[in-house]
Amino acid sequence: MKDPKSFVWGAATAAFQIEGATRADGRGESIWDRFAAVAGNVAHGDTGEPACEHYYRWEEDLDLMKSLGLGGYRFSISWPRIQPTGRGPANQRGLDFYRSLVEGLLERGIQPLATLYHWDLPQTLEDEGGWGSREVVDRFTEYASILFDGLGDIVPAWITHNEPWVTAILGYATGVKAPGVRDWPTALRAAHHSLVAHGAAVKAYRAAGCDGKIGITLDLTVAIPATDTDADREAAKRLDGHHNRWFLDPVFRGSYPEDMVAFYESRFGPLDAVQAGDLETIAQPLDFLGINFYRPNWASAVDDGVLDVADVPPDLERTAMDWPIAPESFTDLLVRVRNDYGEIPLLITENGAAFDDVLDGGDVVEDLPRVAYIRDHIAAVERARAEGVDVRGYYVWSLLDNFEWEWGYEKRFGIVFVDFPTQRRIPKRSALWYRDLIAASNGGT
Ligand code: FCB
Repeated sequence: MKDPKSFVWGAATAAFQIEGATRADGRGESIWDRFAAVAGNVAHGDTGEPACEHYYRWEEDLDLMKSLGLGGYRFSISWPRIQPTGRGPANQRGLDFYRSLVEGLLERGIQPLATLYHWDLPQTLEDEGGWGSREVVDRFTEYASILFDGLGDIVPAWITHNEPWVTAILGYATGVKAPGVRDWPTALRAAHHSLVAHGAAVKAYRAAGCDGKIGITLDLTVAIPATDTDADREAAKRLDGHHNRWFLDPVFRGSYPEDMVAFYESRFGPLDAVQAGDLETIAQPLDFLGINFYRPNWASAVDDGVLDVADVPPDLERTAMDWPIAPESFTDLLVRVRNDYGEIPLLITENGAAFDDVLDGGDVVEDLPRVAYIRDHIAAVERARAEGVDVRGYYVWSLLDNFEWEWGYEKRFGIVFVDFPTQRRIPKRSALWYRDLIAASNGGT
């Protein structure tokens, strides 16, 4: 194994989930502000206020990270803080916030890893068609260039997109996430435009002469046939094509998987968003691939007229999201990505679990199921590394309990508990366990 000290142990968050301050300092409206304001979209009517008030409490949060010994912090930048309407010159106060944050990280010896897009599109752009419209590619490239100019001197590593599968499919096909559109052809256009925007941003980064690293984060699954029938094996292949290969193939091979092109076209009509030269743009060489992993899926053939796949997990322990816990599949995933797509350095940019944590007045919130989840998934990463997979870092999701999208504040993923009414941060056992793991792997205690 490579030098264990160069492995980054980090934590991840996203702007909309922690910042709050949705109207401060010239920030524009995002699709999540609009979506959360509609009754029925988010549990309990929760919104991006107050979240963790991180916009005001960021120094305290950086001190917390330092006290845990984190070597890296993955955060996202709110597009509507930088360009309130999604186009035009930068809002200086937005840029200043992230500059202070990054400087604060560097002062504390924590490596910044900045995500350009973690789902908070300026609402103005959505009004013009959002990710379903080709125009978004130029808008995203302009936004990315503002950040490379404004922060490229101090941010050493960038992620273009967080989980374009979610942006496209959950945002525009099933509509459970913002902007809540339910139309598969639009979703497939959105997926393509996200990927072209990714490639265009990488080109802009290289053209700007920045000497840091840039990659993309995909949420990958392991599609396991629910039974040994041909039909379920086919269903698993389709789910893998839909969720994994539809994104991995264009990014690393410059082509969409043929079986899925045929499937989608038979279901939803021609893939008319793909223009000449797009696949070359998408397939820019990357410095790393970010992988978010939470759970595998068990695919069973059904006739639902969409993907014709149902998810039928076996009887396993589950998290508070009702997600089955199956860490061994994480090793399989990492080995498979290396075998099928080559030796690209990997970062685990998210992994973690929600459980129903209880604040009982003690100094520490006891969350032993989360300790077990994280421990077992890190062990799965270590097994992949022992098989020669080049994993360079692990970022637990999440540093803090936060706004878990359509679940609001109900689902707690933090290794640190947030008491939202008082905004007090209370470490969970998992935070202390992670601190000790980091200290031990750095060769000290
Ligand atoms: C991922 C998201 C992240 C968080 C976790 C639980 O899909 O990137 O923001 O919601 O799931």
